[in-house]
Amino acid sequence: MENDFSILFQPLDIGKVKKLKLKNRFVMPAMVTCTANSMGEATQRMVDYYVERAKGGVGTIIVEAMDIDDKMLFNRLGIFHDRFINELNYLATSIKENGARAIGQINETGIRGHLPGPDDLSTKDIEKLIEVYGVAAERVKRAEFDGVEIHGAHGYLISQFLSSLTNHRTDQYGGDREQRTRFAQEVVQSVRKAVGDDFPVIFRMNGDDYLKGGNTINDSKITAQKAEEAGADVIHVSAGVGIVAHDISLGDNKSYFHMVQPMYLPRGCLVHLAADIKKVVKVPVITVGRINDPYLATDILTQGKADLISLGRQLIADPYFPQKVAEGRIDDIRQCIACNHCHGKRIRAIKHLHCAINPWAGREAELRSIKPAEVSKEIMIVGGGPAGMEAARWLKLRGHRPALYEKNDRLGGQLLLACLPPHKEEINTFRHFLVRQVGKMGIEVNLMMEVTPEFVLKKKPDVLIMATGGKQITPNIPIGKKMKCVFAWDVISGKEEMTGQKIVVLGGGFVASEIAEFIAEKGKDVAILEMRDLIAFDMEPNFRQMLIDRLETLKVKMIPKTLIQEVTANGVKGKSLEDGSTKEFPADTVVIALGSEPMKFPVEEIEKAGIKVHFIGDGKEVHGIPEATRDGFVAGTSI
Ligand SMILES: Cc1cc2nc3c(=O)[nH]c(=O)nc-3n(C[C@H](O)[C@H](O)[C@H](O)COP(=O)(O)O)c2cc1C
Ligand code: SF4
Repeated sequence: MENDFSILFQPLDIGKVKKLKLKNRFVMPAMVTCTANSMGEATQRMVDYYVERAKGGVGTIIVEAMDIDDKMLFNRLGIFHDRFINELNYLATSIKENGARAIGQINETGIRGHLPGPDDLSTKDIEKLIEVYGVAAERVKRAEFDGVEIHGAHGYLISQFLSSLTNHRTDQYGGDREQRTRFAQEVVQSVRKAVGDDFPVIFRMNGDDYLKGGNTINDSKITAQKAEEAGADVIHVSAGVGIVAHDISLGDNKSYFHMVQPMYLPRGCLVHLAADIKKVVKVPVITVGRINDPYLATDILTQGKADLISLGRQLIADPYFPQKVAEGRIDDIRQCIACNHCHGKRIRAIKHLHCAINPWAGREAELRSIKPAEVSKEIMIVGGGPAGMEAARWLKLRGHRPALYEKNDRLGGQLLLACLPPHKEEINTFRHFLVRQVGKMGIEVNLMMEVTPEFVLKKKPDVLIMATGGKQITPNIPIGKKMKCVFAWDVISGKEEMTGQKIVVLGGGFVASEIAEFIAEKGKDVAILEMRDLIAFDMEPNFRQMLIDRLETLKVKMIPKTLIQEVTANGVKGKSLEDGSTKEFPADTVVIALGSEPMKFPVEEIEKAGIKVHFIGDGKEVHGIPEATRDGFVAGTSI
């Protein structure tokens, strides 16, 4: 494909009276970082995070949701009082000084934040709230943002009004589609009135709720038209509804996957919704959702499916995506793998935003303290996985002389296996990125080298970094010789064949569950035995739900609360932790997927010889990609 990305860098004017020039077509959508302080005020950590994105070249930054209600959630921005304006002003001006437009998103959570929803509000409450949106928007203007975005998507209050699942009112704010849209319309009007005609107003909404009985694109087209009529200058088309934190159950939380789309969904999975909305409005339309690739972004604009491209998690993973595209440095882009560590494991747990593959995201101040090496050291890194490669990159950047030693014939370590289960291919983009960088930087790579302590002593580097990863755990139970027993990693890598039709997987963590899917897709009859209460207990909740659904479709037997006792000639004996009964689960092949433990490597002699040793990644403690990459960064920037 030809590398002509110029369409992405065409400026665009938005707004009514006084036009606001956006320097390019990239928008950073609102994403909560949980870096506000517990009072809801912007912090230096937050400013650093946004400034880094502004420096990376994105044209417009929509700052994360600001609560208009004083019953706000912890560590989220508030905008319900004038006292927030000062810090928000610092945030907005810092973004602008670094070249991006700054937009503030205002939100009222409704039942998603344990607050009253449409059904619980009196007409007076509604009128008050509509006014409060306006007051909040005016504060955004006073804080010197360039515009305001009204959050009408994702199942928050406006979206609750729009949906017949959460709006059962019988007055002018409920009933048919037209009436349910009234609240959104009046909010846009109130905001417009409060900020005047010279301040851009973006309306964010769902193109589809992806919820049985929720709004579909046909409803959304009307909402978009009404928002435009009411004064919105731009429509931002998202999708999905977050899990409702209230006693109203929306029954089907799969909708959530469309809000922050995991790698199981294709890149650009919501573009068709923006394209449909674009056909019925005159104002510019923003599309969002798994856009991590400049070719896709170019196609969207070229085909007229949207006017602006939101890059959410992609800018968490690599703030310099726009600049790298502009410079044609596509190989240098750290592409978001849509693993949702940032959202599922961090934000939903009310913890600072972190990224699995960008170890300094949310901790940008750390970049300022990275110094060149005072003395250039020879550093032997054993293990060419994410921890080893990330360490090597930083060491080389700082002037050390790192050399990678990998026993495999390729770099990648655990990433090579992690990308093999169904729907996990996106992980490979991270491996490719690291391998490309190691190559481009001229880092010495030694493949198919099993490093021994003797070898280290002979080579005598200044520093040894052990990034060897883990080894699979063998269960401490009797294993009958007549049963074919294989390790999970060997099955997935194709090293070992399974015999027969009936497969029992020992262990029900996420690796085991993904392997079970991999095997079931080959038409085998699979059972998972797990001691804990839940299968795939260690997975990000949305990923888990999607995987469990797929395992159910594949008719995989999921058997939790079962203690594995023995592998016999015919199957696996397990004891129920519920009623103490024992059962034999028939098997032709048993797959061991009980996790891994750090590989042992004697270092006493090495340390005695004056070589400093560091253990990182799974070689230190078995975790996942986020911890391994972070360990690599810490080692690479501190030695
Ligand atoms: C950590 C995180 C926080 C988010 N917070 C918000 C938010 O405050 N307001 C909002 O409208 N959307 C929020 N979203 C949704 C994003 O704006 C975006 O629509 C979504 O991540 C999909 O786009 P992407 O694939 O480019 O990341 C959040 C997403 C993430 C990952
Ligand atoms: S944590 Fe995962 S999903 Fe989130 S930005 Fe990083 S790579 Fe993307």
